[in-house]
Amino acid sequence: MSRIAYVNGHYVPLAQAMVHIEDRGYQFADGVYEVVAIHRGRLLDEGGHLDRLDRSLRELEIERPMGRAALGVAMRETLRRNRLDDGILYVQVTRGVAKREHGFPHPPVKPVLVMTVRRSNPPSAAQLSDGVGVITIPDLRWKRVDIKSVSLLPNILGKEQAHRAGAFEAWLVDEKGGVTEGTSTNAWIITKDGRLVTREAGPHILNGITRMAILRLAAKAGVAVEERSFSVDEAKAAREAFLSSSTNWVLPVTSVDGKPIGNGHPGATTMELREAYGREIAEAGAG
Ligand code: PDD
Repeated sequence: MSRIAYVNGHYVPLAQAMVHIEDRGYQFADGVYEVVAIHRGRLLDEGGHLDRLDRSLRELEIERPMGRAALGVAMRETLRRNRLDDGILYVQVTRGVAKREHGFPHPPVKPVLVMTVRRSNPPSAAQLSDGVGVITIPDLRWKRVDIKSVSLLPNILGKEQAHRAGAFEAWLVDEKGGVTEGTSTNAWIITKDGRLVTREAGPHILNGITRMAILRLAAKAGVAVEERSFSVDEAKAAREAFLSSSTNWVLPVTSVDGKPIGNGHPGATTMELREAYGREIAEAGAG
């Protein structure tokens, strides 16, 4: 069955899904996006993703293409037409199509909304049992990465660098030596005395939907949480480490720049958090 994309109110076969070459997303990366995980045929935390999309749009003064409820309906309809049980829904909104000039178009043009659905590979059994490696590289991004903009050059270059180094992800390090996050995931460590540490939400990280769920679950489980900067050395000395995202949930990190973390195997707290997250999703699906 051919995949169906949503383009500005139309459901079309993916091969025929087109936007104009003067779309500002194409020319200026003037747009925002969301990646929503599809699990057992439903969207995970649709509300959280809609909230974040709204925020990104507001911050860039891009008009919301349609009301929140209507957007939710279109998202679910795109999923339905693709009949996919597990994968991702990609949602992108750009400022629209206009003659190429840096300033916003006057009068404003209609934003362009596109959505696609595809299968995605959840972490493999080996990645879960052995954990994955990360490298560390300088964080070259702009200073407002809390906005989920489609401007992702440093992210894609960093991910490619990680893959070429045989690693799963690159953790980005700011000018003060603190880890901000991964190129498409949030970064976490658990210190020797059992404290869960991740960078505080702010302009320098994307506040992951999964990140927020993990913070909630950790608090519920009585894990001490510190939202603060941590250095690469602190990460290398940690008892456990992991990364999080909508597609990876909680994925153990067992080496940083080739240095094994803890005993080199996925940590117990990491796996407990992964299981707690899985349970929460299963319960939401049953409810
Ligand atoms: N990435 N940090 C960055 C820079 C990200 O791009 C993402 C998500 C995350 C995790 O956010 P969440 O838990 O809401 O997925 C953190 C998506 C999956 C992507 O760009 O493909």
